[in-house]
Formats: sequence, structure tokens, C-alpha cells
Amino acid sequence: MKIAVSGKGGVGKTTLTALLAQAYSDKGLDVFAVDADPSPCLAGALGVPNDLQEKLAPISEMEDLIFERTGAKPGSTGGFFTINPRVDDIPERFSIVHRGVKLLEMGAVDLGGSGCICPESAMLKTLFTHLLFRKDDVLILDMYAGVEHLGRSTVDFVDAMIIVVEPTRRSLGTANQIKKLALDIKLERLWIVGNKIQNQEEVEFLKKNSPGIPILGTLPAVQGVLEADRLGIAVYDHVPELKAAAEKIADKIEEIIRER
Ligand SMILES: Nc1ncnc2c1ncn2[C@@H]1O[C@H](COP(=O)(O)OP(=O)(O)OP(=O)(O)O)[C@@H](O)[C@H]1O
Ligand SMILES: [Mg+2]
Repeated sequence: MKIAVSGKGGVGKTTLTALLAQAYSDKGLDVFAVDADPSPCLAGALGVPNDLQEKLAPISEMEDLIFERTGAKPGSTGGFFTINPRVDDIPERFSIVHRGVKLLEMGAVDLGGSGCICPESAMLKTLFTHLLFRKDDVLILDMYAGVEHLGRSTVDFVDAMIIVVEPTRRSLGTANQIKKLALDIKLERLWIVGNKIQNQEEVEFLKKNSPGIPILGTLPAVQGVLEADRLGIAVYDHVPELKAAAEKIADKIEEIIRER
């Protein structure tokens, strides 16, 4: 299963990604989680202890590695460099494993079609495609609001994209924009997960106003999420309601993908 998680800033993409990753890992599946956010924080959400987190660094910031593989320094443009560098060893070499979840940080890079042709984007693009070809049971990507990571050629390998929304018009507006971008690259398998839900009224609001995207499930608003962050513990361990809700969503994803 290859699942991308997207949505407006602060809606809970990282929280959901961490919950699903741990839920699948606890079911005995091999999980590879990728933090594709410019300011990575999936490790924290997974409750990775500090000493292990220190071993993680975003690939986009590994200047020597990028130079070694592409033949050019990050940030340089106009010169010659390899556009399909060797990346096959990177997932194992630079990921960490915490409670069965392998985690890799990609870091910030503009992968869009906006003309950024530089060594680091070549590196991350190639790495991204490579990750989609790996045979992990579950690949889950914590993205930011966008589909820049998903090129037309890689979309076929993504089973679905989850758009996380809060029960607000603004957040649904972003979901609609993401939907348009996704459809542009022919990614039609989209799901919504409502987060920070306080009551049934908000669930109804989402059902009524979601831009034609099926709702996969919802997660309640719980104070314990902030507490878990302060304590440096995974939400999965600290908030039973969210663990249960995530397990339900994880099962549903498996079911839908199996049926396809
Ligand atoms: N179900 C919830 N109940 C209460 N607070 C939540 C819930 N889910 C997330 N939060 C809080 O909302 C904030 C944003 O969550 P998170 O970092 O998961 O979102 P994000 O979409 O990944 O954000 P960013 O766009 O910055 O990457 C955090 O402070 C988190 O603790
Ligand atoms: Mg995040």
C-alpha cells in the first residue's frame, strides 16, 4: 500500500501519518514512513527518542551525498549533473527504525514543474520514485499541502491520497485545491479524513461540504494530543481514542485497497 497524506497547514497530517504508521506496524506489516515536509517532525509524532532522532537528517541537506551522487553541489544550476543518480542504498542507509516503523526524512525541495532543475531536486525526485517502487507492505508519506512530490509517472504507484481536513470551510477550500492538482496528474483516488472533530454537527458539516471526495473517517479533537507533544510521547500511546480511531481508518484503507 502506498498512501500519501496531504492537507492544509496544521490540520493534523503528521499526527495522522504517525498514527497510521504505528497502527500498521503493530499489525505486523513492514512500514516505511517518509517525512516529506520541509520542516520535518514526524519523528517526534512517532515518539522517536532524542538520541535516535539525532541520527536522522533530511536527505536534501546532505550536501556531500548530493555532490557524490549527482556530480554537482546543491544549489548550483546551469552546470552538468546526473539527473538519475544512484539512490537504491539511501532508504536503508539513512532511515532509522523505531518500533517497527522505518523513517526517512526527505527535507525541503521544490519538485514542481516550475523549472527548478538542480542537483538536489534531481536527487529527491529519483529517490521519491525509487521509494514508490520498493516492496514495503506500507509506504506512507507525510506531505505538505500539495502534490509536488507526485509526478504523472509516479501516480500509478500511489494507491491513494488522504486529504486531512478540519471542519472549517477554509480547510475544505484547500482540500478542493489539492483535489484539482491531484486530478491534473490523474490521481483520482482521494479520501478525506476529518480531524479535530468535536461533535456530530461537525461530521455532518464535512459530509455536506466535502468537495466530492469520500470521507474515510474522523479523529476526535482531544487535549491529550498537545500533552503527548509536550511529554515527547507518541499520540498513539498517549491518547487511546485516537489510537482506536486510527486503527479503524487503517483497516478501512486496507479493505478498500484490497477490493480494488
Ligand atoms: N485530534 C487532535 N486533537 C487535538 N489537537 C490536535 C489533533 N490533531 C492534531 N492536533 C494538533 O494540531 C497541531 C497540528 O498537528 P500536526 O502537526 O499533526 O499537523 P500538520 O498538518 O502536520 O501540520 P504542518 O502543516 O505544520 O505539518 C499540533 O499542535 C497537534 O498537536
Ligand atoms: Mg506536519
